[in-house]
Amino acid sequence: MSDLAQTISEVFRQKKVVIVGDLVADQYLSGTIDRVSREAPVFILRHDETVTLPGAAANAAANVASLGGRAVAVGLVGDDANGRELSSKLDECGVETGYVIASRNVTTTTKVRILAGQVHAVRQQVIRVDYENSKPIADDIRAALIANLRSASEDADAIIVSDYNYGVADHALFETALEIAREREIPITVDSRFRLAEFQQATSATPNQEEVEQLLGKGFSAADCDRLRERFGLEALLVTNGSKGMMLVEAGKPYLQIDAVGSPEAVDVTGAGDTVIAVYSLGLASGLSFADAARIANHAGGLVVMKKGTATVSLDELIASMRADGGFSMSKPAV
Ligand SMILES: Nc1ncnc2c1ncn2[C@@H]1O[C@H](COP(=O)(O)OP(=O)(O)OP(=O)(O)O)[C@@H](O)[C@H]1O
Ligand SMILES: [Mg+2]
Repeated sequence: MSDLAQTISEVFRQKKVVIVGDLVADQYLSGTIDRVSREAPVFILRHDETVTLPGAAANAAANVASLGGRAVAVGLVGDDANGRELSSKLDECGVETGYVIASRNVTTTTKVRILAGQVHAVRQQVIRVDYENSKPIADDIRAALIANLRSASEDADAIIVSDYNYGVADHALFETALEIAREREIPITVDSRFRLAEFQQATSATPNQEEVEQLLGKGFSAADCDRLRERFGLEALLVTNGSKGMMLVEAGKPYLQIDAVGSPEAVDVTGAGDTVIAVYSLGLASGLSFADAARIANHAGGLVVMKKGTATVSLDELIASMRADGGFSMSKPAV
């Protein structure tokens, strides 16, 4: 067995992964319950702090960077405070943001979680407020996104398409991504909240259980998944299933059930899917097999759900988790 730690850190380092899709600002506004309002029978929350974290495609990008990959984001934010905050958070995480367009005609997609609690109590989420861009993306911005994707991907080792249905990953952009991946012979992976059927012919996709149920109905089998994989022209389909782990179906191979690792008590499952596609794709970019990339991604997913808010995993944490699990022998990277 190769030394896992060394292999992973060596193969991940400086692999260039382009993440294209919906960049979201995940905002956590926390405050202390002060008193009851006189205007209405409600509590008044005294604001303590607002923290903005990279969400959706931005979260996938942050997760590539935290494991030593070179993450390049391609997407769209508004020329507004949340957009600037999101871009600066991405910079801090080591994600390249030179291909992120900031437009005055767009509102940065922002999900604000209001966290409330008494002075010494744990803050809990009471409501989430979403700011979504309601205007269609203008043609000149669409053209600029495609041009940015082309430039960003020049020396890429993988492309991730992260679609949360906010409009960036349309047909033309996806076709361009496919074309680049074919030309460069690099993997292209897709995570789509509602529209997996529109992203066919990629290398692999990472839908969760519910997203597959929307296509196949409840109680689907591994054989059903394999037919779906074939119908969508994917080499492999990785179905994530929260605390039950994940299942990999790959052309011409028996399916692989991978059990979740870590504590059964997740702290916050937000963004586990983003971590999974980031690590899986970084693995494929590094020439690992689908199975090895999925197993490593499963460890990363198990770690990230133990952290509050949208979060990332470090190489040291990942390696410690894999070692604690007895490690596993990886096939030699193909590149
Ligand atoms: N409670 C948990 N315990 C251990 N591992 C978990 C848990 N929840 C998720 N994971 C890991 O993270 C992976 C992805 O989780 P999940 O299937 O919830 O993704 P998702 O629904 O796409 O998440 P999101 O869209 O919110 O990012 C799982 O396959 C598993 O590896
Ligand atoms: Mg998901």
